[in-house]
Amino acid sequence: MTDLTQLEADLTGRIAAAADAAALEAVRVEALGKSGSISELLKGLGKMSPDERREQGPKINGLRDKVAAAIAEKKAALDAAELDARLASERVDLTLPPPPERKGRVHPTMQTLDEMIAVFGEMGFALAEGPDIEDDFHNFTALNFPPNHPAREMHDTFWLPPNETGERKLLRTHTSPVQIRVMQQGQNGKLPAWIAQGQAPPIRVIVPGRVYRSDSDATHTPMFHQLEGLVIDRDIHMGHLKWTLDAFTRRFFETDAVVTRFRPHHFPFTEPSCEMDVQCDRSGGSIKIGQGTDWLEILGGGMVHPNVIRNCGLDPDEWQGFAFGMGVDRLGSLKYGMPDLRDMFAADVRWLEHYGFSAFQAPNPATGLS
Ligand code: PHE
Repeated sequence: MTDLTQLEADLTGRIAAAADAAALEAVRVEALGKSGSISELLKGLGKMSPDERREQGPKINGLRDKVAAAIAEKKAALDAAELDARLASERVDLTLPPPPERKGRVHPTMQTLDEMIAVFGEMGFALAEGPDIEDDFHNFTALNFPPNHPAREMHDTFWLPPNETGERKLLRTHTSPVQIRVMQQGQNGKLPAWIAQGQAPPIRVIVPGRVYRSDSDATHTPMFHQLEGLVIDRDIHMGHLKWTLDAFTRRFFETDAVVTRFRPHHFPFTEPSCEMDVQCDRSGGSIKIGQGTDWLEILGGGMVHPNVIRNCGLDPDEWQGFAFGMGVDRLGSLKYGMPDLRDMFAADVRWLEHYGFSAFQAPNPATGLS
């Protein structure tokens, strides 16, 4: 006859010592499983005499209930401990500050361009655009560059490999080819609706865009941005050009203190031609306008050459106008004090964080440019 007291002590001891659910389950199977020690005892009841059974029955059943209860209790304790451990390991500290939010900045070139567009928009100019990959005709020939003339070389052109027909396209060296596209489209009646007037002259457009030249130093980068201006009407003269550019410059720099200088120059597509410089101080690693003894060239311009007007199918005796092309990045570097143009395209995030603009600071001629 098994010693029930001994069995109880043995089982409760092992239940208490069970370290996890698997160990506890092993004890349960050993005691209460099909052929477990207590199950065997219960089976033995049937073979006992009635007297014996009356005595042993309650004891064995009692032992079974006690062991089952001890197992249930231990299981609850093990479950609770496991949950506590999980909660502790998965704890989220809501008091920790969130990681810093990365905010993008508007590149100074794009800010500058938006400001320029806002100023010319105020003056009544409409926007036009053209392709970065141009052909020789639009970039040179139609702009009155004679064939094989050295002026074609003055731009250090990036030529593309010849296509199937042997034609070599190029990365436009200036935004002036869009003058041709606008004047020709005007003739064909194909001018997009958003370009001023739609069909033929008068034309008053600005053309922002990327341009490319094989050139690199503090004031030149192989890719930079220009803003072309084109006005074609009757009775337009140099005075209109000078007034427009002077008014633009004061408005853009938001001060009357800016000093400009026009110098005679040569472009094949304008006659007469000029360049405009802005007075600045480039000493001491920064750049300040309206003071100092340096001059930074910011644009070329002039009266559109009669040949160019003729090349676009217009009669130069009826239509004249002026054109100009400004360096957007240069204007930005002057206004915002960035001495080396190459930094603008180095894609250094620290530089962008420092010189970039908030996206909420969109230039608005009514509330301020920047
Ligand atoms: N296309 C000239 C340049 O890139 C600038 C210019 C534009 C000059 C229009 C005259 C008229 O240097």
